[in-house]
Amino acid sequence: MEETHEEEIQFSPLGRRMASGSGIEDLMDDLGRTLAHSDGSIAMLGGGNPAPIPEGQKLWRERMAALLSEESSFDRMLGHYDPHHGNRRFIEALANLFNREYGWNLKPENIAITNGGQTAFFFLFNLLGDRDGKILFPLSPEYIGYSAQGIEPSTLLSIPGRIEKLAEPFFRYRVDFEALPTEMPIRAACVSRPTNPTGNVLCRADLERLHSYCRERQALLIIDNAYGTPFPNMIFREEEPFWREGVVLTYSLSKLGLPGTRTGIVIGPETVCRAVSSMTAVVGLANGTIGQALTLPFFEDGSIIRYCKEVVRPYYETRSQKAVEIIRETFTGISYRIHEPDGALFLWLWFPDLKIHSQELYEKLKDAGVLVVPGHLFFHNLSDEWPHASQCIRINYSMDIEAFPEAMVKIANVLRSPGVSAS
Ligand SMILES: Cc1ncc(COP(=O)(O)O)c(C=O)c1O
Repeated sequence: MEETHEEEIQFSPLGRRMASGSGIEDLMDDLGRTLAHSDGSIAMLGGGNPAPIPEGQKLWRERMAALLSEESSFDRMLGHYDPHHGNRRFIEALANLFNREYGWNLKPENIAITNGGQTAFFFLFNLLGDRDGKILFPLSPEYIGYSAQGIEPSTLLSIPGRIEKLAEPFFRYRVDFEALPTEMPIRAACVSRPTNPTGNVLCRADLERLHSYCRERQALLIIDNAYGTPFPNMIFREEEPFWREGVVLTYSLSKLGLPGTRTGIVIGPETVCRAVSSMTAVVGLANGTIGQALTLPFFEDGSIIRYCKEVVRPYYETRSQKAVEIIRETFTGISYRIHEPDGALFLWLWFPDLKIHSQELYEKLKDAGVLVVPGHLFFHNLSDEWPHASQCIRINYSMDIEAFPEAMVKIANVLRSPGVSAS
């Protein structure tokens, strides 16, 4: 047989686009390489992994052991394809949980399971959006993972948040309603709540306004609850999910400590859920079963809500407060602001007087032994240039709090070094 030379392999335009890499892919490669070659002294504040909460790890280990001993459930979990919309019992448990907690009227047809939240977004964005009907991110910066998801690159459009300075050292982004497009066709607006990277939890008044904006355009409002309520409930105040006609909610088991199970959940109009399930059938045949089987009893008896309220939320809230405290003690004399953290597992730092690009700051911090995510990667598909977009970094505070003070000293030293930031 004739040998095929690598350089002769031809990709389709779609193949070229999907396989051409992205900022986040390069960054993850760099983070992985740096960690692999380090002597263990590097502080990893760069990834999006949930914290290894000991109580959670024990819970999932014990539940897996129980599942192993339930012969028929275990054999079924491994030996059968689930229907492409997801496991029937898991979906019914979810619908009952939301209906019981919030008085909603969900039917199983309003729910579709996907192989992770990331896959759900790829399906939703391309199901709804294209060159002639945008997917709008009304509060940029937004989750990096959305950035390369439009099959047609011009599908996604971001609108910069309006900066509101609060009592030092805090600030927050607000939706700039005046700046939302009025002429352009919009198929959906999408926000993560809490927002990755900022930890911003949009208030209900803003959600109502966004919802009206969408309804006026026959567009859907997609709310990404990867860190949201009622699970994993990484929100540091009492909140309820926002559910109305024309809303699509997404959830994930990842931040419950189960990213390896790749389980995403879409809640929305029946037509949308049916379409998402069809896309699962085409792309992946069926979903992974393990996350659904593992967590099923906690959704059936509702104890997932108590677990998130009593374990997950306090764990992250305490860490977030501690991380802010350490930064305030360490960053004296440095010009910086922190986005008011309402939830999620990140702190978003803004250096208004930064003299270098956030990519260069990332490199300098890496050389100093701290891995962060440079902020410009979260400002994808902006309609206009925005200098602020290269003045921020995201840090994950949830990993090793013991190493956190030293990492902050290293960051402060870099910021104080000549040519980096005016104080
Ligand atoms: C805001 C947000 N949405 C969605 C995802 C995707 O999560 P997964 O695919 O693990 O469910 C993440 C992952 O970090 C995220 O931060």
